[in-house]
Amino acid sequence: MNFDYSEEHLAVREAAREFAKNELLPGVIDRDEKQQFPADQIKMMGELGFMGMMVRPEYGGGGMDTVSYVLAMEEISKIDSSCSVSMSVNNSLVCWGLEKYGTEEQKQKYLKPLASGQIIGAFALSEPEAGSDATSQHTTAADMGDHYLLNGTKNWITNGSTASVYIVMAQTDPEKKHKGINALIVEKGQEGFGVGPKENKLGIRGSDTHSLMFSDVKVPKENRIGDDGFGFSFAMQVLNGGRIGIASQALGIASGAMELSIKYAKERKTFGKPIAEHQMIQFKLSKMSTEIEAARLLVLQAAMKKDKGESFVKEAAMAKLYASQVAMDTTVEAVQIHGGYGFVKEYHVERLMRDAKITQIYEGTSEIQNIVIAREILK
Ligand code: CAA
Repeated sequence: MNFDYSEEHLAVREAAREFAKNELLPGVIDRDEKQQFPADQIKMMGELGFMGMMVRPEYGGGGMDTVSYVLAMEEISKIDSSCSVSMSVNNSLVCWGLEKYGTEEQKQKYLKPLASGQIIGAFALSEPEAGSDATSQHTTAADMGDHYLLNGTKNWITNGSTASVYIVMAQTDPEKKHKGINALIVEKGQEGFGVGPKENKLGIRGSDTHSLMFSDVKVPKENRIGDDGFGFSFAMQVLNGGRIGIASQALGIASGAMELSIKYAKERKTFGKPIAEHQMIQFKLSKMSTEIEAARLLVLQAAMKKDKGESFVKEAAMAKLYASQVAMDTTVEAVQIHGGYGFVKEYHVERLMRDAKITQIYEGTSEIQNIVIAREILK
């Protein structure tokens, strides 16, 4: 496995780093405080090509590989994970699945504007009683001949009120269990489609998390992705890729906290010398840095396997499981290194610590990643 970055990889990483420093850093504390969705920033990310990076150019995307995508995700997540979660959902959960399994009409109508960043999308699988236990869908899509009638509630939906297009999983034939689930494309503003209030969260507070309510929403048959009953398999495959995105988000949170800690440790003096010269701080930095490198290798391994067209289910789950733990551990230590300054907003690390927690929860909790890994290695 070759871990050398190409010229294109380095250019993408540099572009994302500059964008994050110039456009995301100013105002990130304020947006977090006010729970303000980064609408202008996401629009800019679309214009720069970050919202449909892996989609082929003929469908409005950047035609890049997954390695480029994880490098950009890491840089943007170092500064603002409320932006990178929208980026991850749009790229991995919405665009990737549409490109792979959508019809030509669906690609022309939905993928093009999504990949080019004109609109953003959302992925609706979770429900009040179906989070980790995702096969237990209560939202129904009754087959009415030429359309489905969609009824039910979805929870924790990223881009919940700002998306224009939603991919909604719903049960059509309960007797067939998960093989009776369909993935349907629903448009914002359809009659009977309601959006609940924004969730007041611990972290990624700018991100737009809502419940969705469907009451007799008519979804035309041509908006179904894949064959009848393909919806659960679709959701699982899309989430495998999504987990690489969230793993790179976790990696970015960790490496952002690490960079801030190194800078602070060189500046802050105690007992007559910079704290970076105290062995206790050196040991913390050394552990953080080693774990971040290990997480990066797992993320790159998963991305490279995906790019080669090989199975990456286990690798993506391992990358997410490990990188999210590293994000949590690293950010807690970063706050500790900053002492009292770490506990206040201006130094950023307390926000990174709060943002880290969600990477152990969404797109499959750490407990679910362990199940996925165990099933893969015991096959
Ligand atoms: N890749 C491909 N297919 C998979 C899969 C995977 N990782 N995991 C399961 N499947 C397939 C199985 O092969 C099986 O298909 P067949 O019957 O055709 O063989 C089918 O899915 C059902 O699987 P199981 O029999 O293993 O079902 P289970 O109920 O025992 O376990 C689960 C399923 C793996 C726990 C699944 O429910 C799961 O992944 N849960 C977590 C859901 C999740 O990640 N939610 C995230 C929400 S989206 C989000 O967070 C986005 C956001 O806003 C940021």
